[in-house]
Amino acid sequence: MTRLLSPHDVAEAARLLRAGELVAFPTETVYGLGGDATNDAAVAGIFAAKERPRFNPLIVHVPDTVAAKSLAIFDARATLVARHFWPGPLSLVLRRGADCPVSLLASAGLDSVAIRVPAHPLALELLRATERPLAAPSANRSGRVSPTTAEHVMTELRGRIAAVLDGGACRVGIESTVLDLTSERPVLLRPGGVPSEKLEALIGAIATTAADAALRSPGMLQSHYAPHLPLRLNVRDARPGEALLAFGPDPPPGFAEIRSLSERGDLTEAAARLFALLRALDRPEFTGIAVMPIPEHGLGAAINDRLRRAAAAR
Ligand code: TXA
Ligand code: MG
Repeated sequence: MTRLLSPHDVAEAARLLRAGELVAFPTETVYGLGGDATNDAAVAGIFAAKERPRFNPLIVHVPDTVAAKSLAIFDARATLVARHFWPGPLSLVLRRGADCPVSLLASAGLDSVAIRVPAHPLALELLRATERPLAAPSANRSGRVSPTTAEHVMTELRGRIAAVLDGGACRVGIESTVLDLTSERPVLLRPGGVPSEKLEALIGAIATTAADAALRSPGMLQSHYAPHLPLRLNVRDARPGEALLAFGPDPPPGFAEIRSLSERGDLTEAAARLFALLRALDRPEFTGIAVMPIPEHGLGAAINDRLRRAAAAR
């Protein structure tokens, strides 16, 4: 059952979110599929509800710049554009702060995080009531158009999420502009609600991903994370010195260390732990990371996609 909540039910929506449930909410751009960004399981649930075939990093929503600065490192450019365009349809990709509490899954394992302050009174009220940053991609199933009314969200996600907070139709209707400020050269990752000319007027020339993609990451993988150690997939037997990323109840013996994605073989739990465990095992004392076979259904497809790319990156 997915409940339709009215603007008077913000406290209830906040309660659900704090309990790890998913609640779609309106922003000025499109409806977001919200989950507690600090809760790995909630973030994994977002990918499951959307049936995303890949772990793209998600936009994290906060009520103000002060909250944003507790998650990421702001340089002068970031502070300047935030002052001009927040609240508003602009997402900034910044380096994660040292104690950034945002789930690594929301960052798709990257050292960066995309943040925005939405310009919608109900979204801001919800963020303040929840007192957590909310990860929220557009509230549609993968491959469908972004929803701009609560009814659209219901059509897309009924039965998959706890609730939809109904705030009427979205004003902007297209997603936020995504601006990457993690390097010296600002890069436009996605055109959106704030025109890039307006951003250039403030911080100078901005490269587009098309022009910059080759430089940045072969194969457009700005959302790519690969461990330093070699990765061996579909493993059933140990090699000397390897660490094992296990899945299911019976990991094979002989590994230097074993960490489990999910002992009970639960793919959502596995997704929630994936990036944190890859990082935990990526240590020079091991010769490599072996990964047990992961079923290809449900979130398994996204997990395997990410593992294959990490393995091929060597
Ligand atoms: O208007 C919007 O931005 C809506 C509303 C709900 O706020 N949200 C939205 O989120 O469109 P989503 O997850 O559908 O789009 C996220 C975009 C993707 O293009 C993703 O690749 C990029 O932001 N992105 C997020 N985090 C990133 C990161 N750390 N590095 C690079 N790109 C990132
Ligand atoms: Mg989308």
